[in-house]
Amino acid sequence: MTTNNPISLQPNARPVLYDNHGRPITYLRLAVTDRCNLRCFYCMPEEGIQYLHKSKLLTYEEMLRIVGVLAELGVHKVRITGGEPFVRHNLIDFMYQLAAIDGIDELNITTNGVLTGQYLRQMKEIGIKSVNLSLDTLDAKRFFEITRRNEFEKVYQTLFDLLDAGFDVKINAVVMDGKNTDDILPLVALTQHYPVSVRFIEEMPFNGEGAHYPILRWNLHKILDTIKVAYPALTKIKDAPYSTSYNYQIPDFKGNIGVIAAFSRTFCGTCNRIRMTAQGELKTCLYDEGVLSIRDLIRSGISDGELKTVFVKTFQHRAKDGFEAEKRRTSLVTESMTTIGG
Ligand code: GTP
Ligand code: 5AD
Ligand code: SF4
Repeated sequence: MTTNNPISLQPNARPVLYDNHGRPITYLRLAVTDRCNLRCFYCMPEEGIQYLHKSKLLTYEEMLRIVGVLAELGVHKVRITGGEPFVRHNLIDFMYQLAAIDGIDELNITTNGVLTGQYLRQMKEIGIKSVNLSLDTLDAKRFFEITRRNEFEKVYQTLFDLLDAGFDVKINAVVMDGKNTDDILPLVALTQHYPVSVRFIEEMPFNGEGAHYPILRWNLHKILDTIKVAYPALTKIKDAPYSTSYNYQIPDFKGNIGVIAAFSRTFCGTCNRIRMTAQGELKTCLYDEGVLSIRDLIRSGISDGELKTVFVKTFQHRAKDGFEAEKRRTSLVTESMTTIGG
């Protein structure tokens, strides 16, 4: 698609909005809160961060309106993120309403699993199919060192409850030099008996402080090499369209393994994602500083039609990749992932 004609009608009449690099914008990552009940090393300093005042957060009504407008432009997948989404009150009621929006046919959630277990029945009823669970280690002591909270047992139990309930479960494990690299193989071993997708993520400097290391040693290649030494039969499998992970399987294992080169940013060419932060900042790339306050536009009385025009125009200025987005920033990447939603 060209810059002159960013919206096209597909044969099934679903609108598709293309960015200035010809990438369809179909997936919204919606952060519903900046608060979290863990303090993960890769996301926040130990003392936490200054949370936003409630008045600065998008209300659920504002979020529903924004998603409705984006759905009319062709967004059909929404992933709820945070902070920890379940820390926000009445999240379940909100998700029922979100799932009912015309055009939204996939609603997923990324969660740390501390509060999630009690909501599985409603999540099923809402139609959530896929849950991404943040779990960086299978060792309770290391879990405490990484998250600074004693919640391993609960999260681990939630993993199995999610699988029993029939959700597609992806485990997100951020690989941290000197912290959990000994967990790579035990996490891979989980895929032998469970139909779970274990994804190892390169650590990014979104931690409230800035880069933890001068260079990223545990990148895609080192993670894969480590797995291959123990499992030489590791086999590449087909990646789903727009996948953030490169996916593999060990023959006869029930689950699969993915590596997300989030820091190396090798998948930008097919990036179909935009983000709305909890305070209503639109990000057209994870690495940008936020390109527009949708909250301010809404609170100044913009109409749905005008909002649509703003989105269409803004998507014509997307950085081609995370490196370009980073170059355009006025400050280094240091913000906490909890303010962005991952
Ligand atoms: P799926 O819908 O299952 O594909 O989810 P996802 O991988 O998009 O989402 P999830 O919330 O599980 O994110 C997993 C990791 O991928 C997190 O560390 C994200 O920050 C990272 N990630 C997701 N999207 C992007 C992206 O567009 N760019 C980069 N660099 N990292 C991303
Ligand atoms: N680097 C890489 N991934 C991160 N996540 C949070 N912070 C970071 C970071 N600094 C991941 C978590 C969570 C997902 C939304 O983002 O694993 O599951
Ligand atoms: Fe998309 Fe930016 Fe992530 Fe690349 S780094 S995949 S452009 S959000």
